[in-house]
Amino acid sequence: MTTAAPPSQDILKPHLAIAGGHKLQGELRVSGAKNSALVLMTASLLTSERLTLHNVPPLTDIDGMESILVSLGVKVRRRSETIELQASSLTSAEPPYKLVNGLRASFFAIGSILARMGYAKVPLPGGCRIGARPVVEHIRGLKALGALVTVEHGVVTAAVPGESKRLKGASIVLDCPSVGATETILMAATLAEGISVIENAAQEPEVQDLANLLNAMGARITGAGGPTITIEGVETLHGCEYSVIPDRIEAGTFLLAAAITRSRLRVAPVVPDHLSAVLQKLRDCGCVLEIDEEGITITPGEIKGVDITTQPFPGFPTDLQAPFMALLATANGTSVITEKIYENRMQHVAELQRMGASIRIQGNTAVVEGVSNLSAAPVNGTDLRAAAAMVLAGLVARGSSQVRGLNHLDRGYAGIEAKLRACGAVLERLLS
Ligand code: EPZ
Repeated sequence: MTTAAPPSQDILKPHLAIAGGHKLQGELRVSGAKNSALVLMTASLLTSERLTLHNVPPLTDIDGMESILVSLGVKVRRRSETIELQASSLTSAEPPYKLVNGLRASFFAIGSILARMGYAKVPLPGGCRIGARPVVEHIRGLKALGALVTVEHGVVTAAVPGESKRLKGASIVLDCPSVGATETILMAATLAEGISVIENAAQEPEVQDLANLLNAMGARITGAGGPTITIEGVETLHGCEYSVIPDRIEAGTFLLAAAITRSRLRVAPVVPDHLSAVLQKLRDCGCVLEIDEEGITITPGEIKGVDITTQPFPGFPTDLQAPFMALLATANGTSVITEKIYENRMQHVAELQRMGASIRIQGNTAVVEGVSNLSAAPVNGTDLRAAAAMVLAGLVARGSSQVRGLNHLDRGYAGIEAKLRACGAVLERLLS
């Protein structure tokens, strides 16, 4: 006699119940960029004066970063989407493992802690479901700026030798245009003695946003947004007020929500240049885009297959690979999707297959044969962007889907179900 396998714990987790087949209309509002706000918050460590950030999205990752900064002695005040950070007297240079472990971006703070205090001890962030995600380039950059860095027992300890405790300007050529390494080195070099140059730097809009903030705090940075960034070190930085850029990945996800439900919709605010590769693929697969001052109105036509390869910016962003695959699973024809950034970012494929998608995987390439209908099913979002792909598929699948993995979704999408419901989607969060 076989005993039934106990239900997986997931079944008991909160989920989104999504009734598929409802068109969307109106406007989807885009919040501030998670991947910018997180690193901009760590820039507060570089000055004793108050830094006020506006347009900070209400996300669990932001809560996590707030706890880390508070553990270092930063005074924090939050009112809706504004956060005031004051690092007048830091009490620690060692963020606790239990806080860092859950939030990879917190490792990037090692650059600002070291520059401000001449010493930092930060646990390694470790890998995650989508890849090993080493921090070799971050450490190599800090060493080039003169820090003595050791990695022991999963902890990175960095110290600046000498009286002045100031890092020294240097030239660094990155082996890969890592976003986090560029941001870490950029923050460390702002207070270094002399000139630093980062070659093969990441060109993402979030890197540009960080450089713009640091320049507003008195730094001397040129070239951000391009492959070569030059930083002339200064003695001190001052406080300022700054507004975080809109979230291009959330905006892209919303444009895909319109495309997959074949709905005409406006998405705003968006900076079109932050999404150029994505907008091109949307046009190629049959969408008409009207771009105005503040936003984009999308009118999907018949959706046809397109090929996508993820690349560092300005190439196609890996963070929209899964949401775009959900759309192409419903397209007319074949699409070949190649993931070039992470070694393990195809876990959404099995969940889309549960909904009737026709997808074959070969290594880091997925061959997607579009189907005319997806069917609703209980599915699990295995990481942040995979969870978003499940929500998009649920919006169009026949029947009612149960999407789990909301702990991932809430890390990067502020109030997504309320926003979608306001545009006509039928979904609700159920606690079990
Ligand atoms: C940032 O991660 C984003 N996270 C990621 O978004 C995004 O996927 C990624 O950039 C790429 O665009 C934040 O900004 C908080 P990388 P980051 O260092 O900085 C390899 C999301 O969904 N690499 O540019 O960690 C690495 O393994 C998240 O919001 C090395 O090999 O990314 C990866 O394959 C997920 N050695 C590639 O480079 C290194 O020393 C890109 O990583 C550093 C990185």
